[in-house]
Amino acid sequence: MSNRRSFLRKSALAGALTLLGVGVWRRNESRANHKSNDPTGSIFNDSTPTVALSTWRFGLKANAEAWSVLSKGGKSLDAVEAGVRVVEADPQERSVGYGGRPDRDGHVTLDACIMDELGNAGSVAFLQHIMHPVSVARAIMERTPHIMLCGSGALEFALKEGFKKQNLLTPESEAEWRRWLKDARYTPVVNIENHDTIGMLVRDTEGRISGACTTSGMAWKMHGRVGDSPLIGAGLYVDGQVGASTATGHGEEVIRIAGSHLVVELMRQGRTAEEACREAVNRAHAMFVRRGRDLRDTQIGFLAMRADGQAGAFALRNGFSYARTLDGGDTQLLNSPFLLP
Ligand code: GLY
Repeated sequence: MSNRRSFLRKSALAGALTLLGVGVWRRNESRANHKSNDPTGSIFNDSTPTVALSTWRFGLKANAEAWSVLSKGGKSLDAVEAGVRVVEADPQERSVGYGGRPDRDGHVTLDACIMDELGNAGSVAFLQHIMHPVSVARAIMERTPHIMLCGSGALEFALKEGFKKQNLLTPESEAEWRRWLKDARYTPVVNIENHDTIGMLVRDTEGRISGACTTSGMAWKMHGRVGDSPLIGAGLYVDGQVGASTATGHGEEVIRIAGSHLVVELMRQGRTAEEACREAVNRAHAMFVRRGRDLRDTQIGFLAMRADGQAGAFALRNGFSYARTLDGGDTQLLNSPFLLP
């Protein structure tokens, strides 16, 4: 009897502990679920830096514009769109938007995409005659059931949405193209004719991250060629809980490794932003070597930001730079570390 009472007491205690344990487990589970269902809930320790990053020197003016959106309490999605539009509209920037170098047949064809922390994405490829492809990409994201429109369909959509049709080939780009036609050989000048994309990543005061990228693509490309920039997962990828990445350089090599998605997945596994970018470059490089390709004409670079705002970059070759603006608006142009001299 006493054994039975002792057993019952122990059972009751065990039951209570089990219930307590289940209760604790349930609380933990629900906290974990809350975290993983919250698209802006970083998987890293919470912090709230506001950060803007963008590729190349022209990123300085893109960051300044993005920062003016952020400083009024604006969303990261509005900031990235506003930032890259500055570069799209600048005819002096010969690798993006208006004034971009044409394809080998003299047509300026543009690629762009945009993505927010929830996985909303829009993309436009092989678009002609519209100065702001990033805004067409955003309109596709917000006003259609699709993610990507291309070519004449994209142009038709843009015109219906009220975008203005215009000639994007400036006299300077046309003159350069005519000079190129004399030899018509494809040997791009590294970091110039294949330094081509403005990719931008922003974390706003609410911890939302968004990205955009936009380009006229490689100079003198084949008519109809589309690079990595409008491809979600190649030229840009954003996961609100993990981070974001964007790519620049030789688009074919970025597509081959699904570069920006790879960088985000590496950050999910615990790499810092720079480590993730470095590993993606190493993979692209290994693939080059396996294919016996000549690397002399090639550059690729990745820029990344973790969901907590930690940022970094890495490039195949020397020469890739990026603009970084941190809390308080302090901006620096930084040289990316690189694999090959
Ligand atoms: N990275 C831009 C392009 O290859 O078109």
